[in-house]
Amino acid sequence: MGASGCPQRGVCPQRGVAGRLSFDVGRVRALYPALADGHAYLDGAAGTQVPEAVIDAIAGASRAGIGNVGGAFPASGRSEALVAECRRAVADLVGGEPDGVVLGPNMTTLTYRLAAALAAGWAPGDEVVVSRLDHDANVRPWVQAAARVGAVVRWAEVDPATGELPAGQYDRLVTERTRLVAVGAASNVLGTRPDVAAICATAHAAGALTYVDGVHAAAHGPVDAAALGADFYATSAYKWSGPHVGAVVADPALLETLRPDKLASSPDRVPERFEQGTSPFADLAGVVAAVEHLASLDPAAAGPRRRRVLASMAAAEAHELELFAALSGGLEAMGHVTTYGKAARRTATAYFTVAGHSPRQVAEHLAARRVNVWSGHCYAWELTGALAIRDTGSAVRAGLVHYNDRDDVDRLLDAVGELGD
Ligand SMILES: Cc1ncc(COP(=O)(O)O)c(C=O)c1O
Repeated sequence: MGASGCPQRGVCPQRGVAGRLSFDVGRVRALYPALADGHAYLDGAAGTQVPEAVIDAIAGASRAGIGNVGGAFPASGRSEALVAECRRAVADLVGGEPDGVVLGPNMTTLTYRLAAALAAGWAPGDEVVVSRLDHDANVRPWVQAAARVGAVVRWAEVDPATGELPAGQYDRLVTERTRLVAVGAASNVLGTRPDVAAICATAHAAGALTYVDGVHAAAHGPVDAAALGADFYATSAYKWSGPHVGAVVADPALLETLRPDKLASSPDRVPERFEQGTSPFADLAGVVAAVEHLASLDPAAAGPRRRRVLASMAAAEAHELELFAALSGGLEAMGHVTTYGKAARRTATAYFTVAGHSPRQVAEHLAARRVNVWSGHCYAWELTGALAIRDTGSAVRAGLVHYNDRDDVDRLLDAVGELGD
């Protein structure tokens, strides 16, 4: 997280600077119709609920009439405006240029697309560095692209005891043959936030590009992709209260150097060159509304949307981390629970097992008490292998997002506590 991710008025928990915050979780929860169903939604790391404003924006776009882009009539112009607005919104969320925002169905699809385009410029003996902390969507596309061209894959290892991804190892992993370093800004199960800025600096010093998976991180705090040193920053709107739309943000000049597979008839300009087929135009309106929603989490935030997003996400992060102290403290105090991950910088994401019960059984016990959690490897394939839990059902994930409250946490702790009785 760059210094610009921490607004002066708010709090930057990573830097330990306390300040005044404005976050009213009761007000925020009332914006989400789905939360009224009485369930504790602790499955946000797998996908969040959406606020009314997002639902209205998607319905409103359809109601207003939209057409395919490039037409001579107003409905087509409305879709073009939605695409442009969506690029501006995502750029405001992560810190980037609208013309560098590539939109697509999800992060995985876009990463495969980018991996193929980048690997077209790799030669046998070139190297890529991936990490065992990462979601498989930021591992397998690179491993498979490397195999196709005879490039070598180097692995950054996780410390299983802490869940840290030590940045120092990249001094050894990155060489003059490294073409790309792929790393996650936060683990989707342990919450670990590696020192991405240091890792990217090491990559850049060797002339390598960096691909940062921000799918988990972007939901949990302010993002400044440029300050991180991310040449590519990937995110997915369904993790931050939006619809199922993914985006990869890069410098438009960098995108100009790549030639992805595309139809002869589709636009050759950047970023459209990377976008295949027709976009979900109504959903793009939902992405814009989701960014507006995030920008409004701290109602006291003022100024341009980018500034309001940074302030609001800092307030949301502080709220999540305060709740997480109760969640992780409560779990760690239970003798029948084993928690994974103790990284110094992390998101509010707990990963744990319960003695005598498989992770799936725990999830079912919680579901019966209307507490929604995820269980299993959660696509953290290499990590669950490194932790030696993948073959035993991995663990249970309870992830906090900004709409969770103390009641959600207490309900989870009570239900897990019952399993030790
Ligand atoms: C950290 C992380 N990276 C990548 C992905 C894949 O994202 P998508 O579903 O948009 O392909 C996920 C989804 O859970 C994730 O949590």
